[in-house]
Amino acid sequence: MLNKLMRKKNILSEGSIADQIANVKSRQIPAHVAIIMDGNGRWAKKRNLPRVAGHHEGMKTVRKIAKISNEIGVKVLTLYAFSTENWKRPKLEVDFLMRLPGEFLNTYLGELIEENVRVEMIGDLSLLPDHTKKAIEQAIRKTKDNDGMILNFAMNYGSRAEMIRCTQELAKMAASGEIKWEDIDEDMINSYLMTADLPEPDLLIRTSGEIRLSNFMLWQLAYAEFSFTDVLWPDFDEACLLSEVEEFQSRSRRFGSVEGEEPV
Ligand code: IPE
Ligand code: IPE
Ligand code: MG
Repeated sequence: MLNKLMRKKNILSEGSIADQIANVKSRQIPAHVAIIMDGNGRWAKKRNLPRVAGHHEGMKTVRKIAKISNEIGVKVLTLYAFSTENWKRPKLEVDFLMRLPGEFLNTYLGELIEENVRVEMIGDLSLLPDHTKKAIEQAIRKTKDNDGMILNFAMNYGSRAEMIRCTQELAKMAASGEIKWEDIDEDMINSYLMTADLPEPDLLIRTSGEIRLSNFMLWQLAYAEFSFTDVLWPDFDEACLLSEVEEFQSRSRRFGSVEGEEPV
């Protein structure tokens, strides 16, 4: 309870960041952390700024969180940056959001390369403006040989669109006789999702107090631990991430079994 209150109020658990890092590193680190970065608009509104100022500030949080995640040994960090539903926003805001990957990568790609981070993305790249596509493709190309943390941006990503695409591919192969319908299993479905090469998320974090998935990784999150924090994305910092990991480490993941009992 106290833990929860401290997290809500964004109060550090006792000790410095260095202590917190040492503490989380002494226990199991979630291999894949997925984050729904939410609350940029409300962060800006609170300061009488335009919504896009919140998106711009949020970009700095992306850098911070990527760095600390890499430092503690997270293998994959997936960040939900733009959903298939976000096209419904005002054109000016969408245009601004489409410029952010270019700006982010112009500013930080050098550091990410130094830190051995590999940039990847999930989502339908084909519908993005050329300049956005180019910036992302270039970052993917320039970091493809890095073997450190994967920084995976979900950009124009929607879980339902992903599942439809997968279903269509499998149906096509079944119709042409390339596979038998009864061979379709979890592994085959996994291999036709955009996350085919990634482990499933262990920890899902959503900022800004909204308690929903907004079409994010519906299949992949089947056994993830969920955490919803009131902190707005531009205010989410290293200490917040470390507290989330500490909380994750205190949970018992049973995957349907009974703790301490061997299967019969
Ligand atoms: C998250 O912040 C960023 C994107 C969805 C692109 P929002 O823009 O959704 O911020 P709120 O929810 O309006 O505060
Ligand atoms: C989810 O946030 C999408 C991203 C963070 C990219 P939204 O702010 O778009 O979600 P809703 O509309 O509140 O469900
Ligand atoms: Mg939002």
